[in-house]
Amino acid sequence: MCGIVAYIGHKPARPILLEGLKRLEYRGYDSAGIALLADDTFEVYKTAGRISALEDILPPGEAKEVVGIGHTRWATHGAPNTINAHPHLDATGKITIVHNGIIENYATLKKWLLSKGCQFTSDTDSEVIANLIGYFYSTENARDGNNRPASENKFEWAVQQALHELCGTYGLAILCADYPDTLIGAKKGSPLILGVGENEYIIASDAAAIVEHTTQAIYLSDNEMATASAEGFRTMTIDNAVVTKELKDIEFSLEQIELAGFDHYMQKEIAEQPTAIARCLGGRIDPANARVVLGGIGEQLRDLTRTKRIILTACGTAWHACLVGEFLFEQLARIPAEVEYASEFRYRNPIIEDATIVIAISQSGETADTLAAVEQAKERGATVLGMVNVVGSTIARTTDAGVYLRVGPEIGVASTKAFTAQVAVLTMLAIELARRRHLSSDYAGALLGELNDLPEKIETILRQSDHIRQIAQANIDKENWLFLGRGVNYPVALEGALKLKEISYIHAEGLPAAEMKHGPIALITNRMPTVFIATKSLQYDKIMGNIEEVRARGGKTIIVATEGDDHIAQYADHLITIPDATEQLQPMLTVVPLQLLAYHAAVLRGHDVDKPRNLAKSVTVE
Ligand code: M6R
Repeated sequence: MCGIVAYIGHKPARPILLEGLKRLEYRGYDSAGIALLADDTFEVYKTAGRISALEDILPPGEAKEVVGIGHTRWATHGAPNTINAHPHLDATGKITIVHNGIIENYATLKKWLLSKGCQFTSDTDSEVIANLIGYFYSTENARDGNNRPASENKFEWAVQQALHELCGTYGLAILCADYPDTLIGAKKGSPLILGVGENEYIIASDAAAIVEHTTQAIYLSDNEMATASAEGFRTMTIDNAVVTKELKDIEFSLEQIELAGFDHYMQKEIAEQPTAIARCLGGRIDPANARVVLGGIGEQLRDLTRTKRIILTACGTAWHACLVGEFLFEQLARIPAEVEYASEFRYRNPIIEDATIVIAISQSGETADTLAAVEQAKERGATVLGMVNVVGSTIARTTDAGVYLRVGPEIGVASTKAFTAQVAVLTMLAIELARRRHLSSDYAGALLGELNDLPEKIETILRQSDHIRQIAQANIDKENWLFLGRGVNYPVALEGALKLKEISYIHAEGLPAAEMKHGPIALITNRMPTVFIATKSLQYDKIMGNIEEVRARGGKTIIVATEGDDHIAQYADHLITIPDATEQLQPMLTVVPLQLLAYHAAVLRGHDVDKPRNLAKSVTVE
């Protein structure tokens, strides 16, 4: 899950690559590099660290080269140092590549290449690709008498030969010093987009690096390549069969991916939630008939209504949204539902009965485990629906149908507005299914009316940001936290703990509140804050009991409660309130103070909120 950007055109490539890499930095940020094609050799600059470190090592002045490739890395094979940073050159220096993905058979290929006299300088799997292309290019011999169809262009031919040897995943941008006017991209399992401008082309792993230059793009599918040159571009399979790709509009603007006065993307994305949720709901609620209109899955709604089982699958924060979905499908629609970690689902030979519907949820639409679960479920005959944010992403294209989240680009590594939108879409779907099965139009209408009020309610929570910062400040020296919730707010407890862990590096656990007494209660001391989600719900009295249990052991409590609940205040060392809401709709509110708590804790601890250590925004490797 690295970031790739490559340029060929008539403008100086260096600033375009650097700007693109900055926009992709959230995908990985342990080392970075660029290669510029100067006459018939490559100038390669790379370093451990971030793009700013790369800028520091570049020669001063303007660079006139109009062709180049760049990379920002999230290490998989080999330490995050300068040698392992991309771009990689082949042993002859004629080929250079940047790679996103993992080459699973790299050790075998490396042994073979070493036996042919190739030299390696890094510990990465990616260098094998450069050497493999270089080997085929210089020898012009296909391996083992292979006679697959292949290009007559020697550079393309060598790339095709090499790609056939690779097991694993790749998004690649490739240059050859002998072909100064040709840039090749190739994709399998890792995203790759070709931005098409006026006599200029940008290959990138994400549209964020393209949108400043053009809004027209082609999304490559697996086992496809694109060759861009001064004459135009061509797309083909790695077997050299021509493929005609549709030019698509990149559906977001530059403003959407800028900080717009905020200190961090996460802060901006938390603050955007009222408008993001309004966009997600917009045009999808039909108040007159108390119905929901989800056009993307219109044809599947009949099957969904009658299904015997829904399986929800995802990773991380999206998996927490699935848990909320499970609750809603069962409570509102009375459809059995279960939630699977995508990473487990794919390997455990899942049982998919007839008429099972699988829903895969992903912000990026590129998470490798989720994609593999989608493919596994499709192979077994399930109808697979996607709830995805990034338009045109791999999961969006692989699923049978889907609903977009419509919250605009999410750049902060810690997912926030995508979670609330995932829950909003699941809630709309559960209400519509309930309505088709048994729910009265009065009750459905009331829930839908409340959904429409959510943006305003989220605003009132956001106004407590300073108060929540003070709570974070008062507990900033605590190294272990518990997050407890019940029912539909249990997944929110998990999400609150994940947010705190990933950006403030504080150990946190989320649990169903009643589980605490079965073990974790042993941890309670006055050094361990416990965050309770204790809003008005059917289980309110039960959770009050759990609060008492913590307080009786000297534990400190931070309580998220319903506005106007005066009784609970006396049990709280710190109190945060949310506006009153029907229990089923609460997760979209209760999560917001927990996002703010994590954000402020991370800032107070001096961490880089948008680029937490060891993480990357989308995990496109297993
Ligand atoms: O792009 P996806 O929603 O598929 O990503 C899934 C997880 O990797 C993601 O939610 C991750 O857990 C976030 N860092 C959480 O904030």
